[in-house]
Amino acid sequence: MRISCLGISHRLAAGVLVFVVAASSLACGGRDRDLELAVEYPAADEAATTRRLIELTKEALEQRHASGKVLRFNQARHPGCVRADFAVEPGLAADLRVGLFAAPRTYPTWIRFATASTRSDTEKDFRGMSLKVMGVEGEMLFGGGASFDFVLNSHPVLFVGTPEHFAKFVDRSLNSHPLLFFLHPLDLHLKELGIVRAGRQHHVSHLEIPYWSTTPYLFGAGRAVKYAAKPCADSASGPHDSPTEDYLRDAMRDHLAAGDACFDFMVQFQTDAEAMPIEDATVEWSESVSPFQKVATVRIPAQSFDSAAQMEFCENLAFNPWHSLPEHRPLGGLNRVRRELYAELARFRHERNRVSYSEPTGDEPF
Ligand code: HEM
Repeated sequence: MRISCLGISHRLAAGVLVFVVAASSLACGGRDRDLELAVEYPAADEAATTRRLIELTKEALEQRHASGKVLRFNQARHPGCVRADFAVEPGLAADLRVGLFAAPRTYPTWIRFATASTRSDTEKDFRGMSLKVMGVEGEMLFGGGASFDFVLNSHPVLFVGTPEHFAKFVDRSLNSHPLLFFLHPLDLHLKELGIVRAGRQHHVSHLEIPYWSTTPYLFGAGRAVKYAAKPCADSASGPHDSPTEDYLRDAMRDHLAAGDACFDFMVQFQTDAEAMPIEDATVEWSESVSPFQKVATVRIPAQSFDSAAQMEFCENLAFNPWHSLPEHRPLGGLNRVRRELYAELARFRHERNRVSYSEPTGDEPF
């Protein structure tokens, strides 16, 4: 209608409409069918994007750490790793008793908290929480061993939705400026910029904020969930009066010197394949439509965690969302890419740092 008002004929308007619909269908990977729950729709060039991301991130590490220790590409700065228990809830409803959550067992766990990219805790940032749940029975999808990893972030959505956008962001960050990913006049990513602005925060403590998987995972046949870990109690700390560069480590040390910390580990089911997509991690799955349900308690007992040996162990740990049972297979493009990318980068880091890595068992002497 509006096109006609601008003096263009109805026939031309119809032609334009057909073109726009066809083009947007192609832009969505040529998908012309309804989405289905827990089904993946890989992009045709995903293998090439994965290779590109591996090359870009390795190149960046070569430049950043031409000499000395190679750190992680992101989430490199950490306050330390803590011991925890991952206790599957007793009395779960039948539809929640799947895979790792099939029986009420308690697993020894290592947790690595981290900061995404900044060099000081005084700067706003995203924080990470990675859990390595050990002694899990059953064959893992990747890497052998008996560790089941959950890799979580301090915001419910990721700032990029697809591997292609992640690769473009890394490329622009390394070869021009990160802002050019968001604000390139011919290729704007304003939604993504909004997520970065909302997600980067001054957090008071790693132990008092929620974390989300942002990407989905299978939960038995035909069902998909996102994970979250939410503090069992409301935050007790106010903002720090005079925060130092490492105040998050100090806050964690003080908290765990005085007592335990605790998180509810939860799952949120995908109930609508369109509004809760598998292939776009920038879309938040509505909690009012599908609330998170508790499936385990993560208890972090009082402890000290910053001996030199334990900090070194923490530095060398390697997480991969594919350290997972088949019932909980990672879903979506970002997760598919992470399988090879995280493995390759961990191998690179360990080789360069001359670390011979094996999965922890919980029997570590600290
Ligand atoms: C294609 C998408 C992604 C890429 C390219 C990517 C890239 C990376 C890289 C290169 C590392 C360092 C790995 C290492 O050196 O061992 C890393 C670690 C990490 N990433 Fe991602 N990431 C992606 C998706 C995500 C998502 C969806 C989350 C959301 C939870 C996430 C959260 C984290 C966290 C918490 C760590 C730290 C793990 C640790 O403690 O070792 N990443 N990521």
